[in-house]
Amino acid sequence: MIGIFDSGLGGLTVARAIMRRLPGEPLVYFGDTARTPYGNKSKQVIEGYTLQNIKFLLSRGVDRIVMACNTASALAFPVAKKHFPLVPIFEVITPAVDEASRFTESGRIGIIGTRATVQSGVYEKRLTRRDARLKIFSQACPLFVPLIEEGWLRSTQMKSVAREYLEPLLARNIDTLILGCTHYPLIKGLLQSIVGEGVRLVDAADAMAQKLADGTALSEKSGVRHQWYASDITPYFHAIASRWLGKKINVKRQSVF
Ligand code: DGL
Repeated sequence: MIGIFDSGLGGLTVARAIMRRLPGEPLVYFGDTARTPYGNKSKQVIEGYTLQNIKFLLSRGVDRIVMACNTASALAFPVAKKHFPLVPIFEVITPAVDEASRFTESGRIGIIGTRATVQSGVYEKRLTRRDARLKIFSQACPLFVPLIEEGWLRSTQMKSVAREYLEPLLARNIDTLILGCTHYPLIKGLLQSIVGEGVRLVDAADAMAQKLADGTALSEKSGVRHQWYASDITPYFHAIASRWLGKKINVKRQSVF
């Protein structure tokens, strides 16, 4: 069983990508909706939350952990590895970095994410460690998550906010843009229409699912049962979850703290 956690609902984009690539693998999903967002919290707090989330998933019997949350991946992966050295733990930064460095021709890469992810500088460090000639430009996009969660995916407000965030990156002539946050695959079409076909989008959710699929023998099992947990069932939780996953799910409330 694969355990996935996120700061809330956004990680469903990663669950969805994994379900598409590995349809025979049962998932246990935990969304920390009671403590979301992580994107404006400190490293210390995000590390503490991450360890609690992983402990809960392991108690459900999972044998691998996917940190779907970019913010947790950026800030708490080392502490997670230290505390659970025997558990295979996957973060979403590495697959996105791999894909972006493969795609870019001009060597000019843009990154968008939460404030915490952008301020951590993790993408820049990883990319330039791979190739010191790469030029990296990042932009925190704190308004995207609330707009997406409100369902304003194709609104005029979303379009103008997206333009405001992306124009400085476009002015730098990027040819690749990393979507460094769980929620952004949900506005991929809109982002692509703003940056134009000349800029390749790297979807961290899909890159993660691909990486997991590469290391997993395809299971023939059908009718697998996934388990869905959240630390709070907020009023619109089920509506958002069903819309994003394209099907109804039964979510149980689970406290991990
Ligand atoms: N899941 C977070 C991420 O991918 C976005 C939402 C939050 O700030 O908690 O960075």
